[in-house]
Amino acid sequence: MSRELKYYTLEEVSRHNKATDCWLILYDKVYDVTSFVNDHPGGVNLIVDNSGKDATEVFESVGHTKALLTTILAADACIGHLHPDDRRKPSTPQSAAKSAASVRTAEEDKSPAKVLEVGTTEETVPELDKFINVYDFEKYAPLKMTKQGLAYYSSGKGVIFFKIVNQNIKIKVDVTTVDMRTKILGFESSCPIYLSATALGKLAHDDGELAIARAAYNSGVIQMIPTLGSYSLEEICNARVDKTSQVQFFQLYVNANRELTRKLVKTAEAHGCKALFITVDAPQLARRERDMRFKVNTNPANVQSNQSSSNGSTQQGFSKALSSFIDPSLQWKDIAWFQSITNMKIVLKGIQCAEDALLAVKHGVDGIVLSNHGGRQLDTSRSSIEVLVEVMDALKRARVDDRIEVYVDGGIRRGTDIFKALALGAKAVGIGRPMLWGLACHGQPGVQKVIDLLKAELESTMRLMGTPTLAAIRKDMLVVDDISHHVTFVPTNELASQVYTPLKPLTSKM
Ligand code: HEM
Ligand SMILES: Cc1cc2nc3c(=O)[nH]c(=O)nc-3n(C[C@H](O)[C@H](O)[C@H](O)COP(=O)(O)O)c2cc1C
Repeated sequence: MSRELKYYTLEEVSRHNKATDCWLILYDKVYDVTSFVNDHPGGVNLIVDNSGKDATEVFESVGHTKALLTTILAADACIGHLHPDDRRKPSTPQSAAKSAASVRTAEEDKSPAKVLEVGTTEETVPELDKFINVYDFEKYAPLKMTKQGLAYYSSGKGVIFFKIVNQNIKIKVDVTTVDMRTKILGFESSCPIYLSATALGKLAHDDGELAIARAAYNSGVIQMIPTLGSYSLEEICNARVDKTSQVQFFQLYVNANRELTRKLVKTAEAHGCKALFITVDAPQLARRERDMRFKVNTNPANVQSNQSSSNGSTQQGFSKALSSFIDPSLQWKDIAWFQSITNMKIVLKGIQCAEDALLAVKHGVDGIVLSNHGGRQLDTSRSSIEVLVEVMDALKRARVDDRIEVYVDGGIRRGTDIFKALALGAKAVGIGRPMLWGLACHGQPGVQKVIDLLKAELESTMRLMGTPTLAAIRKDMLVVDDISHHVTFVPTNELASQVYTPLKPLTSKM
């Protein structure tokens, strides 16, 4: 039964402007966020500074949209409507000035990041047909992103990826045709790549996850929708080009409020999502230093100390508070509950060792993603590809490798990377940042181009390795002895260690 919501004046709302009593006006509704404010991953102060007034503009300027409100906040957080007479009007000249100032800061942060760290200083993004590999997109994406967006997207401290392919080319195989079609959890995909969940897609492009949904369809790959999308789950599902044939998966951050989680899972299923990817590597969001540095430089008050501030907030300082919106108490026994509330396939995203892979089989999940969250969670964690070797060995030894699908993500930038993951036993690979760079540079066509380029590289690798089908790719085509010595850091800004000629906009002068 829906509650009757009260009307509040701006004057009434303005009295609730501290961490211990914190109201926000968002989209002409009044939210009491007191119980959430200390959990906010963006820090207490960003919310408190905007409390007691209309925060819609600032809220949207950081890539947040309406969708986040229903995903993260309990239903009773929305306590009323803003009185119609007060809509879009600042309460006092002082608060109007303050509000304008905070929006102005946000506006300044919206200026392009313009970080072209290697080589040239071009300021325009070249036309799409000039891009020849994923690194081209990495180079130009900052031109289309705000400083804040770039800091958020590029946080992560290194994903290492295995580099050696055996040169033993199979010249006797006919590789005229190469077939890379596959099935992921039984659903068809034009290649062994899926688009992994990344939060706040609007920071890259206004169409955010909607553009990704359309690009996924056009490229014949599957999109994993994030819990923390800029658009709502419903909007992203409705962006499917073909409502009957296009497959989407849903990534879930398990909320400590299980009723909220249950509703979200049900909504995903009702909107046609076919699998639930439960993220298990984020009981707290980690210290993402680029992001933190950006905040220190732009608003030191947010990250200074661990003392209580004058407005009653508990400063988070440099450590992130445990959040209720990602449940740190998630355990193996909870898997049965998920299995009882949904018919979607269940996959655990963020497995990092053989022991957990075996437990995943024991608990009857359909798949696991070996992932270190793109290097954004536990610092110095092993690369997924190293873990893949250990996991496949353990699954084979226990004779259960046919009972679960294994995917891998983190640092996939080349067709050769995909080839190596498949050779070591992965069913498919996920991509995160390459998709976001494509989105930032050229929106939906940019994402499609990133997938096209990876497919073209994989096709070429398969042909050169004498493997016309995915089934022909084998582990003995790689040098895997002492695998931890064959790795290199990938997501640097060093443009593939400068082994390619950087794209220049004026090709006629090259
Ligand atoms: C009122 C103004 C608000 C501002 C200025 C603001 C700002 C920010 C910023 C800058 C981040 C970046 C995150 C990071 O450092 O990792 C962030 C993250 C986040 N915010 Fe807010 N926020 C506001 C309100 C809210 C509200 C009301 C909610 C809940 C409905 C919310 C939910 C989140 C979540 C879930 C994230 C994490 C996204 C992720 O890292 O994946 N925010 N916020
Ligand atoms: C900006 C950004 C946001 C992300 N947000 C989420 C998220 O909300 N949930 C999640 O499970 N993984 C998230 N990830 C991790 C990706 O799903 C994926 O594991 C990772 O990006 C793969 O590494 P790659 O970026 O090197 O391809 C995020 C990654 C990035 C770069």
